[in-house]
Order: sequence, then structure tokens, then C-alpha cells
Amino acid sequence: MAPLIAPSVLSADFTDIAGAVRLIESSGADWVHLDVMDGSFVPPITFGSQMVRDIRAITDLPLDAHLMVDNPEKQIESFAAAGADYITVHAEATVHLHRILQSIRDLGVKPGVSIVPSTPVESLGEILHEVDLVLIMSVNPGYGGQKLIPSSLAKVERLVQLRKEKSLSYLVSIDGGVNRSTIESVQKSGVDVVVAGSAFFNSEDPAAEVSVLRGRDRFL
Ligand code: DX5
Ligand code: ZN
Repeated sequence: MAPLIAPSVLSADFTDIAGAVRLIESSGADWVHLDVMDGSFVPPITFGSQMVRDIRAITDLPLDAHLMVDNPEKQIESFAAAGADYITVHAEATVHLHRILQSIRDLGVKPGVSIVPSTPVESLGEILHEVDLVLIMSVNPGYGGQKLIPSSLAKVERLVQLRKEKSLSYLVSIDGGVNRSTIESVQKSGVDVVVAGSAFFNSEDPAAEVSVLRGRDRFL
């Protein structure tokens, strides 16, 4: 199965977010990936739930909110009210991961968990049955345009294997450094959702980029 493509507006021009969302829609991509950064869990500050609310008003595409924030428990209510379809929190950002994942589901939103490159997949063993999405960071979070860390692909493969072993149904997503040079190995990992920031927004033809990342027209 071809992976779903989730362009990240992190690499868009923030003075024209509506244009960025229209471009994601017209390119045929599947989800909108929203990188929320708080200046504490990661150095940059991007945007908060108001941005999600405004984007919700102009698209029906699934909104994938990736919260790179400390104390995510303080944020989930406002992101749920803003209309996010997935709320993904970092395992490293909270002690009470199990509780926050349940709270996200109680708010009617699909819970996701993410881990940075230094966190092993094994640390998620106790909560995998609580999530609809596992997002593997394949770069250290904070910035677009970095190089994919190859060991992340083994983490994706392990999660695909664990899903089968445990008869679970979460999606596995990869985030960071996915582009034309890395997509072949990314696809081999069996990933379900591919996040692409710079590869999408820096492309002269984002629709063609989406086809390439899905695994078609690889030689365009
Ligand atoms: C990084 C973000 C990513 C980022 C990916 O902290 O979580 O979603 O936008 O950007 P690229 O695709 O340029 O590596
Ligand atoms: Zn992200």
C-alpha cells in the first residue's frame, strides 16, 4: 500500500497559510501536518491552537497536530476544540503518557505518540494499545530541512512488526528528512504516513512530489 502523504506547513510561508493549505489540497496530498513548537521542548516557537482552528475552517483534510511542547496535558483540550483529527504528544514531554493518551481519546480525538531519535521503541511497550498513530522522528525535532537519521527506519520496521504481533491497528508515521533521495528506503520500512516539509514546499511541482513520495513516478 502506498503511504499517506502529510505535508508539514512548517516549511510554508506563514504569511500565506491559506495558500499553503490550498496547495496541499490541490497536490492530492492526504493530511495536513501541523508542527506545534513551544520554545521549551524545542527551541523554536511556531503556532498554537488558533492556527489549527483557522485551518480547520478552510479544509476537510485530516489535521495531524504534532505537539513538540512540554506539559502537553495543558494543551490537548484547546487543540481538540480547534478541530484536530490527531493529537500527537511526545513520550519525552510527559511522565503521565498513559493518562494523556486516554484524555485525548476522551476528547473525541485520535491519540498519537512520538519519540525523538534517542528514545527506543521499547519505551512505548506499555501504551501501544492506547494509540492510533506512532510518529517516529527521523531527525531531532525543531527544524525542517535536516538529514534523515537512518536508524529511524529500523524503528518503523519494529513498530510494524509489533503491531502484527500484538494485533493492534495504529498507523506508523515518519517525520523528518524524507525526500526523493530517501523515499525508497523509507517505503521499504513499511511506513503508513510520510510527513514532508521542505521536500513539498520547496518543490516547483508539489503534486509531482506527492506522486514521488507515494512511490509512483519515481523517475520524474
Ligand atoms: C521537525 C518537524 C517536521 C518537519 C519536517 O521538527 O516535526 O515535521 O517539518 O521537515 P522536513 O521534511 O523538511 O525534514
Ligand atoms: Zn512534525
